[in-house]
Formats: sequence, structure tokens, C-alpha cells
Amino acid sequence: MVSLIVGAQWGDEGKGKIVDLLSQKANIVARYQGGANAGHTLVIDGKKYVLHLIPSGILHPHVQCVIGNGVVIDPVALMEEIKMLEEYGINIEGRLFISHRAHLIMPYHKLLDAAREKAASAKDSENDRKNAIGTTGRGIGPAYIDKASRNGVRIVDLLDRKRFSDKLRANIGEVNKLLDKIYDYEQLDAEKIADEYCQFDTQIDPYITDTTMLLHDAIQAGKTILLEGAQGAMLDVDHGTYPFVTSSNPTSGGAATGLGLAPTAISVVMGVVKAYSTRVGNGPFPTELHDETGERLRSIGSEFGATTGRPRRCGWLDAFALRYSVIVNGISEIALTKMDVLDTFDEIKICTAYKLDGKVLKSIPADADTLERVETVYETMPGWKSSLAGIRRYEDLPQAAQDYIARIEQLSGAQVTIVSTSPDRADTIIRS
Ligand code: GDP
Ligand code: IMO
Ligand code: MG
Repeated sequence: MVSLIVGAQWGDEGKGKIVDLLSQKANIVARYQGGANAGHTLVIDGKKYVLHLIPSGILHPHVQCVIGNGVVIDPVALMEEIKMLEEYGINIEGRLFISHRAHLIMPYHKLLDAAREKAASAKDSENDRKNAIGTTGRGIGPAYIDKASRNGVRIVDLLDRKRFSDKLRANIGEVNKLLDKIYDYEQLDAEKIADEYCQFDTQIDPYITDTTMLLHDAIQAGKTILLEGAQGAMLDVDHGTYPFVTSSNPTSGGAATGLGLAPTAISVVMGVVKAYSTRVGNGPFPTELHDETGERLRSIGSEFGATTGRPRRCGWLDAFALRYSVIVNGISEIALTKMDVLDTFDEIKICTAYKLDGKVLKSIPADADTLERVETVYETMPGWKSSLAGIRRYEDLPQAAQDYIARIEQLSGAQVTIVSTSPDRADTIIRS
């Protein structure tokens, strides 16, 4: 049985917590896209772990973790993460499997990411418009550009030193021209980078395998497999708020291409939904609150990025965007997180529709400038004004909390089957 866990909003919905929780009953957890731009937080008995590349099942010793072909791997970030886990006493030997088809993030991808963002920021004031995306600076966009333009360096290339050096030299030749002529940055030394990466080869060699066949065999053997999305539907390069998106497909279709799985192998898609909305970086965010309520959500919800530490923009739940996300992903079940953050609010709003020039829209505008202009239509519901801490049964939730959940179900068209009430693994209600 293969289940897919996707972010249904703009990322940081609490995917890490939900995947860790569901891993208790899984054999394999696999990541299919993104890279170290992700920051997935797991809290167990008060102890916090932040994972960027390694799947969120790693804390369960019986779980095998797969990094699929669709992920872009920064060896520096990967080695740091492995080291961190080892320091915590978590044994990863024989439990981590990395696709030989996955692309590598090279030092020049990070440089180009930073250089392009810097150049775009400089342009921001020229026409009073945001050009910078506000990326995480992890080299994600440039790595996927190289993949699409067929200049990418893959894990499999590391296995042949000569092929690797040749590719690297050719790529760096081009990058150096860009750095010199366009960005006025220092030149890169191809030989030095080749040496560094060949060292990684020996370190990551034990983990490299054909993960497509590994997953195929596991499915044949009837294993329980969780697929873990990074980012969220509204950051999807095809379906999100383009161009203010990441460069991969976090939506459920990306799981098939990012792992070499048939779409028909996936039995269920669960969307992770935060009880309100957040977004990091630039781009349209119709329900964003620039007032005290937004500040309150940020401070109660500790809304600061797990990867970059940047404050997250906050606003009410956007059920119009959520409905779109449910459709695009095929979400039938929702894990609703951070309900506790709303404990003290007198009233809670939900955005049910967008209006443009006075007219109610049937669908989300594809164009970011138009999306910036939409007006949000809200419904207001009473808050529950009590702490959800320690509640373990759905029926024990205050009536106003149950009503809020029922309304989310109606508006989104998916059923809320998990409710999370704190960062800790234990504080979760599983609805039977
Ligand atoms: P991810 O990227 O989707 O895995 O989410 P992040 O880890 O980036 O951000 C989610 C944040 O919310 C983390 O700090 C989690 O520890 C925290 N979190 C998850 N679920 C809950 C919840 O139900 N209540 C509260 N208060 N925090 C939560
Ligand atoms: P998780 O998996 C939230 C955002 C960045 C930026 C845009 C593009 O933790 O939910 P990129 O570095 O990917 O080129 O940046 O996407 N972004 C995320 N926002 N959660 C994430 O991951 C994100 N990964 C990227 O802030 O707006
Ligand atoms: Mg995150």
C-alpha cells in the first residue's frame, strides 16, 4: 500500500510531524522532489529534529528511507544531516537509499541562486514590483534548470571520475563566463570542486542504489510505503503561484515521476493543512494579514522558517486555494495541523472565495499580478477559547473546533482524519 503525504498550501504545513507519526506503521518513507530547501520538523518527547533531505521516517529504526530521482541533492547538506543523526545516536546504516538518477546540487548552483536573487532584488524598486522570489538560497532553481537543459550532474556520474571531471569542467567553463560577465563574481576552480565531490562519492557510496527497483520490489512484497512531499501545492512550478514558486512538482503527480512509480501504485493522497495560512518568500498571498492578528498567528505559531529562520507571512485559512489543492492533488484525507495556535482567538475567519473587480471567481487566476489584486471573501466562525492540549479523542474537541473542522471539510471536499494539537508526535488525534 502506497500513501502520499503532500503539503496542501505554501509549505511548512507540518508534513514532517505527520510523516513521522505515520511512519510508525510504515516500512519505507520516500522523498520525491525538492532538496535542502525543505525543513521538516519532528518533535518527540520535547526533543526537536529538523530534516532537510532525509525522509521523516528516519527516527523509526524499522523504517527504510529513500531519496528518489526527483530530489536534488546537496552533498554538503546531506553529510551534515547524516552527522547530526549519528550524533543523536540514530543509526542510518543499511536504512538510507539514494537514487543513482538523482541530480547533485553543485557549489555554482548556490552561487547562481544567490546572484540571480540579488540582481532581481536590485530591480525591485525600479518598477515598484517584486522580482526576487525570496528563495531559500539552496541552489534549487539552478539545479533543476541544469536538469531540464541536460547539463545536470547526477549521482551516477560520481561513479566515473573522468566522466565527472569532464562534465564539471564543461559546466564550470560556462558558469565562469556568467559569473564574470553578468554578475561580477569570482571565478570557480573546477579541479578543486571535482576533488571535493569525489570525496563525497566515497562517503555516500554505500547509500547509492536503483531506488526505482527497490520500490517496485517493495510494492510487490506488499510493504507499506509513505511518499513524503516537500514544499506545497501552491509552490508547485506548474500549479502554484508562478513565478513565485519552487522549481519542482510537490503536487501528487511529482511523486510518480520523482520516484519512478506508476500513478496507479498510489492508493491514497493525504494533504497536510495548517489551520491557517503561512508563506515564506515573495509572491501572492491573498489572505495575508498585515495587522496584529497576523502578528499573533506568527508569535503563537512560532512561524519562523525551519531552513532559513525567516519570519513566515501569516493569514487566515484560504479554503478557496485549498479546494484547488485538493483537486490538483487528488486529496481525500486531510491532516489538520496547528489547531492549538487558534485556541485564544475570539473569532476565526475562513476565505471561501475570491473576487476580482467585484465579480466572484470560479477558479484561481494563473497570473501572479492578477492574483495580487483579488479580494478575499470571508466567513467568520466563533473560536473555542480553550486549550486543546492533551485532547486525544475527536469527540472531546470543543464544539466550536469540531464546527471549524466540519466547515473545512465542506469547503475543501476532503475529510479531516488527523488533527494535530502541538509540535510533539504524541499530541495528535487520529479520527477513526
Ligand atoms: P513542514 O515543512 O511541513 O514539515 O513543516 P515545518 O516543520 O517547516 O513547520 C511546521 C512547524 O509547526 C514546526 O515547527 C512544527 O514543529 C510545528 N508543528 C507541527 N504541528 C503542530 C501543531 O499541531 N501545533 C503546533 N503548535 N505546532 C506544530
Ligand atoms: P517545506 O518542505 C516553505 C519557498 C521559498 C521561496 C520559493 C522558492 O519545509 O515545506 P526555492 O529555494 O525552493 O527556490 O525557493 O519556495 N520554499 C518553501 N517555503 N516551505 C518549504 O519547504 C519551502 N521550500 C521552498 O521560500 O518562496
Ligand atoms: Mg518546512
